[in-house]
Amino acid sequence: MVALLLLFLTLPVAVFTKDPKCPDGFLHFKRTPTAKNNHTKNWCVKVFSYSNTGNRDYARSVCIANHAMLTIPENRAEYEAIGEFVRKNNYSAPHAIDGELSSRCKARYLHKWFDTNTVEGECNIKKNLFMFDDINTDPSYILTKFGNRVPSGGGEMSVAESSPKLIFLYGCMVLTQTHLHGNEKALSFANLEWCGGKAHSKNSVGPESLVDSVVCGKHPE
Ligand SMILES: *[C@@H]1O[C@H](CO)[C@@H](O)[C@H](O)[C@H]1NC(C)=O
Ligand SMILES: *[C@@H]1O[C@H](CO)[C@@H](O)[C@H](O)[C@H]1NC(C)=O
Repeated sequence: MVALLLLFLTLPVAVFTKDPKCPDGFLHFKRTPTAKNNHTKNWCVKVFSYSNTGNRDYARSVCIANHAMLTIPENRAEYEAIGEFVRKNNYSAPHAIDGELSSRCKARYLHKWFDTNTVEGECNIKKNLFMFDDINTDPSYILTKFGNRVPSGGGEMSVAESSPKLIFLYGCMVLTQTHLHGNEKALSFANLEWCGGKAHSKNSVGPESLVDSVVCGKHPE
């Protein structure tokens, strides 16, 4: 609670600084302020290497520990700069980024599959299929960068004959293809992973996602 309060108190100072400066190690992106990115002109981004950031709360925690939040590249130039950063540091893809299937759409999708590109209403990919932590980044660009249909994966299993069919969906956004250089032209670099991370024991069955880095963003200081 105290840490959260402090974070909110320090943000306005950052915003009104004349010469925005990102903390050491963060990339500095100049942005076109719009209603869709909370009128953000400057944004700082860093990729952190940390085990099991496929678990969405762990990914969030790594950002919070660095006084930042989950974020995503807003355009091609930001994606390429992030790629350069991860290649320089030898981090392997995928990287956890902001964006998670809304719980309402997820429930509806588990019940009955539908095409998120054409469905009417809030669960259309152009509407509110995804929820974002970060309001300072416009997600429009990344939403056009999925190579697979969305949601891209999932499955079902039965633990025992009498048990309900257990259905799971990959619903957390990740960034991929960052090993490619700009001139290799990766056309799609958004994907989805299961939000639960790695299995906690060797014998557990079911999904797991292997993500060991996370993209965090914050206002300049
Ligand atoms: C939105 O932008 C304003 C002004 O730049 C800033 O003070 C505020 O912290 C931002 N909101 C969030 C949730 O980051
Ligand atoms: C990345 O890997 C290359 C080749 O293996 C190595 O030369 C370089 O020092 C590594 N860089 C870092 C930051 O670990």
